[in-house]
Parts: sequence; structure tokens; C-alpha cells
Amino acid sequence: MKRFTEILNTLKFNFITRSITAVIAIATLVTSCVGGQLGKNNSVEFKNGMVVSAHPEASRVGLNILKSGGNAVDAAVAVQFALAVVYPNAGNLGGGGFLVYRSSTGEISSLDFREKAPAAASRNMYLDSAGNAITDKSLYGPLAAGVPGSVDGMVKAHQKYGRLSWARVVQPALDLALNGYKLTENQARELNGNRADFLKYNPGKEYYIQAEQWKAGDLVKQPDLANTLSLIRDKGRDGFYDGPVAALIEAEMKAGGGMISANDLRSYQAVWRKPVTGTYRGYKVITMPPPSSGGIALMQLLKSVEPYPLSRWGFNADSTVQLIVESERRVYADRATHLGDPDFYSVPQQALLESSYSRLRLENFNWSRATLSSDIQAGKINGKESEETTHFSIVDRDGNAASVTTTLNGSYGSKVFVKGAGFLLNNEMDDFSVKPGTPNMYGLVGGEANSVQPGKRMLSSMTPTILEKDGDLFMIVGTPGGSTIITSVFQTILNVVDFDKSMQAAVNAKKFHHQWLPDEVFVEKGALDSLVALRLQEKGYKITERGPIGRVDAILKTKWGYYQGGADSRGDDTALGW
Ligand code: GLY
Repeated sequence: MKRFTEILNTLKFNFITRSITAVIAIATLVTSCVGGQLGKNNSVEFKNGMVVSAHPEASRVGLNILKSGGNAVDAAVAVQFALAVVYPNAGNLGGGGFLVYRSSTGEISSLDFREKAPAAASRNMYLDSAGNAITDKSLYGPLAAGVPGSVDGMVKAHQKYGRLSWARVVQPALDLALNGYKLTENQARELNGNRADFLKYNPGKEYYIQAEQWKAGDLVKQPDLANTLSLIRDKGRDGFYDGPVAALIEAEMKAGGGMISANDLRSYQAVWRKPVTGTYRGYKVITMPPPSSGGIALMQLLKSVEPYPLSRWGFNADSTVQLIVESERRVYADRATHLGDPDFYSVPQQALLESSYSRLRLENFNWSRATLSSDIQAGKINGKESEETTHFSIVDRDGNAASVTTTLNGSYGSKVFVKGAGFLLNNEMDDFSVKPGTPNMYGLVGGEANSVQPGKRMLSSMTPTILEKDGDLFMIVGTPGGSTIITSVFQTILNVVDFDKSMQAAVNAKKFHHQWLPDEVFVEKGALDSLVALRLQEKGYKITERGPIGRVDAILKTKWGYYQGGADSRGDDTALGW
């Protein structure tokens, strides 16, 4: 009887707890829904615009810009600078990235503000005298840094599309640097984990170093970074590529054996490029061309699976997973051989994008057995990369859309802060193939197309993308994740188009990844049903569980004209709209 009463009390307690939780959840939803409406799967939808980024403060900055009459590019510039302050592992002044843009009237463009190898760089700069790769040299310290592109990228994007003044869009980041921002729990943990590296690579500097451990809620003020931002606000690109900031970068190089010169900085130019476009099941896909591998690889993947009835097979069903894995295996083999900076290497873009080419590549695929990656080479044509990049998606009141992925490469890049200027330098040189055939940090291999050459841009996987449906905006999508970026964007698109998920559900869905080499299917914990995994293993697939794959921040336009956000629950990502 006593046992029965205990159970009853537990049940009562659980019921009350659940009821309270439910009331709190509804109240939270209603609060966050002010100005919005509830859509599919209780996602909050907004009519006038939306910003989805990796940090709540950056999303707030972007939303304020939209509300004060700024357009998607004004907000993108403000978010890029805000992330440089509040999200130091990937937000940056000392890195680079890509913007894909679609205006409300359907004009499309893409901006390449990828870093470049310094003029003094050379093919074998990361090899020892025996010709072996010295991986640390392309990963840590000033020698790992490419010439930063973000500031010039923002200037060019703003010059072409901005509506508000330059000062207005830079100021919110400056305010955050001056007045401080509060660390999230994730950030405090990551900063504590990087303390040893910060001390090692920054003797005599005190950026993000304090006596105690960092904890959630700690206020971080960055006066040197504020000073750098005030120069950028007042002088535009000259505030960074010339004058005191450029001199501080040069001094950092001299002190630590880096190669970036004053001339490299002065001559850096972001480039407008023609986006890669294609179709998938009637949707138009607008995505990033080389020097990102992302756009071409994404289109190849979509074209590979298009002939098959994925929605009938179902989300993460055996056939769906097998087809995706075999497509990825072949596309990543192509990436390793055929893709590089188009200013230095003749990328066979058109041939790779032919639908018939993708179909042919799957011809030797046998449903009863895994293909061996050793049997796959790049098709005949008639990175180490990092998890710590960041993506943001923005749409404004008029329906102009900006999809931006930006990076320092590794988490906190080269770990080197520019003394006196307060920002981190990238370690993007590691995205080059430092030695043909030698895998980089994420097991990616490359060859001649992506060899180190002075002034060349290193190959990227960043895949900022926009989808159209019937001539109207449909989706804005992108993610960090190094080599997994392409597959995460690909699978997020399938989740919406083929598996009818809401934007948030598509983003949260667990993902899996194959990149040709190593010959393994990397699976986010819980992504595959255990029976599906077993059946695939029986066919010869090596399945390896790993941590989170991707951190997608995306926006979907519903057929009723509302914007649905997908802010990845793997991080502090936040969707805000109005
Ligand atoms: N550094 C990551 C990428 O560009 O793909």
C-alpha cells in the first residue's frame, strides 16, 4: 500500500511538474511570438523580416537594423561585425567568407571575400626538408594566416546594396565591443578550453585571459577591438588595410614569423562572382561558385539524388541513406581533384554541373554492397577544414535575402590575436592542400587544383545558398562544419523539399556524412535507426558515430508569405523576426 501511495504521489508530482512546464512553454512561445504567428510544428513565423545567426546578440543587432529601415545587406554587414565581437571562434575581422544575395526582384549575385595566400607564400612552405607536411605550421601562429577578406567584403557589399550609412551599420558592433557582451554557457566553456592555446600563441597579450575560469554571464569588454572598429567605421577599408591596424598586423607577422605584408593588405580585393545556379525538383538553387567547392558539390549531390523517389522511401530510410552516402562519396572525390581557385586553376564547372554527369557517376553503384572508396577516383571530365565557421541568414521587409558564411577556419583561427588591434587571425592556409594526397585536419585531400600559390584563394566548403520557388524566395540556408558543410546544407534542403519538414525540424534533424576519404559514414549520434545502421553495416558500410554535424541557420518562406526560422539547437543560435 505504501508503495502504491508513493507511486501515486510520484504520478501527481509528475503531472503537476509537466503542467507547470507546459504553461511555461506556452508562455515562452507566446512571448517569443509577439509580432509573429505560430506555424508548422509550432515554429514562430514573421511577416516583415528575419535574422538567424549563431549568437543572440548578433541576431538582435541584425533585427534592429531591419526595423530601422535597413535592408538585408545592411543587416548582414552589421551582423558580420557584431559576430566579430560576440562570437570570436568564427565571427571575424581577420578571416573571410562568402555572401550569396537575391533581391526581391530576383537579381542574384555572390561576393567572394575569401582570404588569399600572401605574396611570399610558396607551394612547399608547410613541408619539412624530407617533403613531409608539418601540419602545425598551417594551423597555429601567424604563418597559418591568409590575407583577411572580411572587411573589404563588407565594404563592397555595402557599396553595392546598402541603404543605411556605413557608420550606422558598423556602430552596433563597436557598442558591443566597448560596453561588453555577456558570455553564454557554451562560450564560457569553449574559452576555458582554449586558455592554454591563447597563452601559448599570445605572449604578453591578455585577450580573453583572466585569472578565474570564465562563466556564463561574464561581461566581456574589448577596448582594442572597439578602437579597430571605430577606424573601420570612420575610414572604411582603409581603417583596416592601411594605417594603424595594418601596421599592427604587420608587426604581429614580424614578431611571430608570419608572411602577410603591408602590400598584401593594401592590395586585397573581394570579388563579385557569378553564382552557381541549377534546379532541384522544380526549385531554383542559387549558391556559391569557386573558390568554394560548396556550390558545385551541392548541385552535384542534388542532381545525383533527383531521379530517385526519396519522399516515398522516407527520411533516413535504408535506401535514402545509401543513395546519399554513395552520392557524397563520388562528389567528394571530384572535389579533391577538380576544385580550386578559378583565378589560378581551370575548374571544369560546366561539366561537373551537367545532370548527365551526376547520373553517370552513380552507374557503378550496387544496391547490395557498399562501393569501396578505393574503387572511386575523381570522374573523368570531358581540408583540413574546420567545424568552426559560422553562417547567418537574413531576409528584409521587401524580401531581399542574404546568405552569408564566414570563418577563421579553426575555432579561434590561428589563436593569434593582433596585439593592440584585439582581433583574431585566421588559420585559413590550412584549407590549401599543403601536400597533394595528404589529408588535412578533416581528412580532406586535394591536389594541384588547391596547391599553395602566392595570391591564390584556398578551396572552401562554405555553401551559403538561396532557393527560389516559382520565381519567389523560398529558402535561405547555410552552416559551419568544415567538410560537413556541403552535406548539412544538402540534407537540410532534402528535409524540407522531399521530407516536408518545417524549417526548424529540418535544421534540428540529425545528419550523416561521407567524404570519399576516409571510407566511413560519419553519423551524428541518434541519426540512424539501429536497424537501418545494421543493414548498412551488413552491406559493408563502416559507420562511425560522432558529435554534432552542422549548425544550420536558415529561413523558409511559407506559401502564406511568412518567414519561418530554423536556428540550430546544437548551439546558441537564435532566430529573431518582426
Ligand atoms: N575553413 C572552412 C571552409 O572554408 O570550408
